[in-house]
Amino acid sequence: MQLVLFLLLASATTLALGQGTRVGFYSASCPRAETIVQAAVKARFQSDPTIAPGLLRMLFHDCFVRGCDASILIDGPSTEKTSPANSRLRGTEAIDDAKKQLEVACPGVVSCADILALATRDAVVLTTGRGWLVPTGRRDGRVSLASEASNLPGFTESVDSQKQKFAAKGLNSQDLVTLVGGHTIGTTACQFFRYRLYSFNNTHAVDPAIDPAFLPQLRSLCPENGDGSARVGLDGSPANFDTSFFTNLRNGRGILESDQMLWTDASTKPFVQRYLGVRGLQALNFNVEFGRAMVKMSNIEVKTGTEGEIRSVCSKIN
Ligand SMILES: *[C@@H]1O[C@H](CO)[C@@H](O)[C@H](O)[C@H]1NC(C)=O
Repeated sequence: MQLVLFLLLASATTLALGQGTRVGFYSASCPRAETIVQAAVKARFQSDPTIAPGLLRMLFHDCFVRGCDASILIDGPSTEKTSPANSRLRGTEAIDDAKKQLEVACPGVVSCADILALATRDAVVLTTGRGWLVPTGRRDGRVSLASEASNLPGFTESVDSQKQKFAAKGLNSQDLVTLVGGHTIGTTACQFFRYRLYSFNNTHAVDPAIDPAFLPQLRSLCPENGDGSARVGLDGSPANFDTSFFTNLRNGRGILESDQMLWTDASTKPFVQRYLGVRGLQALNFNVEFGRAMVKMSNIEVKTGTEGEIRSVCSKIN
């Protein structure tokens, strides 16, 4: 497996995969870059597996705001990090550990934006997902504004609006369903879906999209006046990277309204069905497509060449 991956990396070093990033960008300038990131993520993951979904969300939130330039990592009074959309960031310690070691091994060479993209891939692998080759060569941004993070897709966002936000970044409906499928790992808090159980809208106290047999379970996890910050798995196996998230959508067991609507909506439902291997539709392999969609997402508006900078510390511009 290691050898195959090595050969793939070696043969792909000059393969351009978009906007100036390429697989193996550091093969000469910092040959151990990917190994160092992988070890740092693994070490942190062992004591805190929640960094896996944390890194996935962090990369997504980084890429959708000024491109994948690690602007989400910058500390300061009104940076992206301070936006409510970015509350409870997880995984920054893994990035910082990797950066410290990389600054010793090859000072000033590996960007924080690349570390985040690589670390996210490594985190998915640690949760039983399949890996993908991460094109590298991103440079770090010098601007981070909380105000720009407010436009990220939210948990009540309609499918049309989710599709628009993804299309604005060059991502289609399949990419949307695939990337939201990343909710196969991780948790959310009661406060983000409790309204679906008790006070959905003026005509329905309960969201009719919820499986009635699932409702008592959700209500016991999230009592009406209970702790809004209590965590609930986004699918039945929140530590495993699998298709059970899609099975749950089909069964009315999606947790977030924005997720469940991918099943209700006629334009996105077929992609969910294809991941579930529904007869009569061309099957899609979730793990393969997820890697592909992640490469696409992690190339959004990347800075390359002489744009941006290589930060010395990921939380501070130079
Ligand atoms: C409440 O939600 C249901 C199901 O989504 C919908 O059919 C109905 O029109 C909604 N009612 C109001 C008042 O928005």
